Amino acid sequence: MSLTTASQAILDAAAQLEAGELVAFPTETVYGLGADAENPAAVAKIYAAKGRPQDHPVIVHVAPGADLDYWAADVPDEARQLAQAFWPGPLTMIVKRNAHIPDAVSGGQDTVGIRCPSHPVAQALLSAFKGGKGGVAAPSANKFGNVSPTTAQHVLDEFGPDAMTVLEGGSSDVGIESTIVDLSRLATHGPVLLRPGHITAAQIAAVIGALPAAPDQAAPRASGTLESHYAPKAPVALADTARLAGLVTTLAARGRRVALIHYSPLLTQAAAHHPLPADPAGYAYGLYAALRAMDRADVELILVETPPQDDSWLGINDRLRRAAFGSAGVIDRFLQS
Ligand code: TXA
Ligand code: MG
Repeated sequence: MSLTTASQAILDAAAQLEAGELVAFPTETVYGLGADAENPAAVAKIYAAKGRPQDHPVIVHVAPGADLDYWAADVPDEARQLAQAFWPGPLTMIVKRNAHIPDAVSGGQDTVGIRCPSHPVAQALLSAFKGGKGGVAAPSANKFGNVSPTTAQHVLDEFGPDAMTVLEGGSSDVGIESTIVDLSRLATHGPVLLRPGHITAAQIAAVIGALPAAPDQAAPRASGTLESHYAPKAPVALADTARLAGLVTTLAARGRRVALIHYSPLLTQAAAHHPLPADPAGYAYGLYAALRAMDRADVELILVETPPQDDSWLGINDRLRRAAFGSAGVIDRFLQS
């Protein structure tokens, strides 16, 4: 295992990708688990390592200046405009795929997800790999269903020290996964927001003149859109600010080990607590590390103060709702037991 940003490490990692091996690398959103997108055997290793179902497509990461027409068929103007506005950056676009994209990448669908990340290590890797002409298929570098990693250490915690090369790139700036907008069915559905993120629907609308709609039942499957996802081991429950202090006091008095993630300046008797900034960018930056830290604190329940509900918090509320999926009623069960 290597854990360095030295350029020799980048060249070595690019060579490993070219040889069909996996490389974990930092992006500005979360760390990715990469493989040569045009090598189906290499892409299969991603699914094996993650324990991920085969029908879930993976995003293809490309270097700055990459040729969209190489990867996508019938590239709409909207895709070029969004790439111009937000790449490199935390936006993934779903477009019709070209015939040479392996089924393993697209999960058998006729589309492909493409993103050009802005993290300098990701860019260096993508520029070195196949001379900047390749694509690196990469989901988040976590076991299927777990919280996405935002540090190299998180990746090592997920897969162990010897599973793959992990490039070091510090803490991911954005902290939650990229915004995904589906442009593959513009004529019939318009743009569709498959996953909210740092780049908001309003920002996308400002560029292409159409507000992306929320996904409907017929939208292509995206694993990040499964109800249960991004979940730590302990159950996660959301509670409103007004209710939290009393709740924590009551549960602590009963000897329950509760962790609290909050952004209000609360006095707390929780067994462990983790304050996050009260602005969405700062909150997203710290969220996954907080979930992992609270999980390691050996608690029975992770209570999360319900964030504000406005548009700039949409990506955060989306991830928290999924982390809490299946935990409905858990607070009442703790209060009753
Ligand atoms: O920020 C990110 O997007 C990170 C970094 C590593 O780039 N990647 C990431 O990948 O979050 P992953 O696989 O954990 O989530 C990507 C989502 C999945 O829900 C996947 O199903 C969806 O994108 N996706 C990829 N290609 C798709 C396609 N052709 N159609 C519909 N959804 C697609
Ligand atoms: Mg993921």
